[in-house]
Amino acid sequence: MARKITKAIFPVAGLGTRFLPATKSVPKEIMTLVDRPLVQYAIDEARAAGITEFIFVTSRGKSALEDYFDHNHILEQELKAKGKTDLLETLNATNMESGAIAYIRQHKALGLGHAVWCARRLIGDEPFAVMLPDDVIAADKPCLQQMVEAYQETGGNMVAAMEVPHEKTQSYGVLDVGENIGSVVRTRGMVEKPKSEDAPSNLAVIGRYILGPSVLYNLNQKKKGSGGEIQLTDAIAEDIGNGVPVFGYKFEGQRFDCGSKSGFLQATVAYALSREDLRDDLREYIHEVISSDKAAQ
Ligand code: UTP
Repeated sequence: MARKITKAIFPVAGLGTRFLPATKSVPKEIMTLVDRPLVQYAIDEARAAGITEFIFVTSRGKSALEDYFDHNHILEQELKAKGKTDLLETLNATNMESGAIAYIRQHKALGLGHAVWCARRLIGDEPFAVMLPDDVIAADKPCLQQMVEAYQETGGNMVAAMEVPHEKTQSYGVLDVGENIGSVVRTRGMVEKPKSEDAPSNLAVIGRYILGPSVLYNLNQKKKGSGGEIQLTDAIAEDIGNGVPVFGYKFEGQRFDCGSKSGFLQATVAYALSREDLRDDLREYIHEVISSDKAAQ
């Protein structure tokens, strides 16, 4: 039986250039999807999967993210005094236990692999999860929980995988698929951002991982990969050569790429439509806009 996963790394030190100018002062991870910052969706998913230690790899300009996790006592008192129990509950659900969150700095954006490596001392010698908050996954059973359950059977390393159109492989790490075992595939290799003609499959890695400490040892070598960055995919793929299996997990659910503008907008519409308090108005508005074929002024 594989070891229990209690720690998750959240690499949030990227520059977020696709959302400039907003990301000049607002970290991408606290941009709001309806009324909750992206990072809250990731935290809730991690908690559902049994994570109790949350390690954020941050960088300059991310202090708003750290503040978000502080308890806001003045606001709590105010809501209590006014009898706004619903809002108080909403607020309390976001409070984190003291000591549950740790922040590590990545001093330079050298790549996702480097960001994960920065957390190595807090991980030690145990398996851990990695979650990219800009991948938001709507699912009945949260994605990381699905993976943790599958990982109990497989061990090794596991990455969340989904099929993408062939012409889009260049935006992802792509799996070289060996054996197919239902929702789990055993991989022979992984390639970061291959052109469609070079891609070994159209099964792409997205931002959820369960990794063993051997990946951190591989990252020690700080090898640069695609785009001159230290790639997490390369360090995971290296494990295959060392005899540690790597599995792709085809999760149930819909993934939104909230690191891109169109993905963020789609997620906003999808999450708003799933909310009872917003659904009717929004549906009516969308219908009106589409039928009159007019963009909002
Ligand atoms: P992205 O590739 O989305 O890069 O990183 P980015 O900087 O966030 O955004 P763009 O492309 O400039 O718009 C994927 C994840 O890896 C983290 C990011 O914060 C994001 O969660 N990352 C990336 C780091 O923590 N450090 C890095 O050096 C690179």
